[in-house]
Amino acid sequence: MGDDTWASVADQFADEAYASVKGLVRTYVLHQHLLEHLPAPPATVLDVGGGAGNQSFPLARAGYDVTVLDPSSAMLDKARQRLQRLPGEAQRRVTLVEADGENADEAVKGQRFAAVLCHGVLGYLEQREPLVDQLCRCTAAGGVVSIMRGNAKAMAVRPALEQRWDGALASFDTRGEIGVLGVPTRADTVEELSELVRRRGVEPVRWYGVWLFVDWLDFGGAELDPNDSKQVAAAAVELEASRRDPYRQLSRVFHLVGRKGPG
Ligand SMILES: C[S@@+](CC[C@H](N)C(=O)[O-])C[C@H]1O[C@@H](n2cnc3c(N)ncnc32)[C@H](O)[C@@H]1O
Repeated sequence: MGDDTWASVADQFADEAYASVKGLVRTYVLHQHLLEHLPAPPATVLDVGGGAGNQSFPLARAGYDVTVLDPSSAMLDKARQRLQRLPGEAQRRVTLVEADGENADEAVKGQRFAAVLCHGVLGYLEQREPLVDQLCRCTAAGGVVSIMRGNAKAMAVRPALEQRWDGALASFDTRGEIGVLGVPTRADTVEELSELVRRRGVEPVRWYGVWLFVDWLDFGGAELDPNDSKQVAAAAVELEASRRDPYRQLSRVFHLVGRKGPG
């Protein structure tokens, strides 16, 4: 990541993707999940690969002390710009750190956090274990680990909805694809990721889907207008679907929340 792969997509990701109905749904749904598990503010949150802060700045607004750690100076520049839009007191609760997640412990000087987030990052890495190690290490005893990751059991969904039938047939047992940002990504199952964190002293507590209906509509070619309040109401439906079977199992992305043991 030293060459800042993310520089070319920083604007597209931080401005456009998040302003879409899918982006709004994703931020809302994850935020609601997090509030189910985080201690009441004030508490410390480390967002590893936090990018432009789209997911963690709302937590700063809510009273949490947020550290966004990311290796991309372009993404952190976006974060700095977006920070200006927060009220002064929320701005003062945010710290930006430029570092690879694999060096998080050193970069935050051994601080332990009430919650460590890592959303949409592991899929871009060749080796996920060193980063998972750091996420679990930087979490305080009893703290929360929150990871969002591609769902390896739903790999056929996107090519099928795009009517790439040969690709869909070939994808049932694959792990990798070129993601929506044009960057190669890899997926895991909930069970595999749960095992990775469990081996590092973090007990999985709950897992959720992230989007379902708006994602499928989007790949199916529907125009979703973020300025149409009726469509934004989809967020409440998606939140409910994210919590239940069979809907959550079909989401292309899952959200795993774990809690670190006391030791
Ligand atoms: C898809 S963005 C996700 C941003 C943010 N977590 C979110 O949910 O909006 C992926 C982010 O991962 C960061 N990233 C890439 N390699 C990383 C690494 N080794 N450690 C930490 N972050 C990394 C990128 O710079 C980028 O900001």
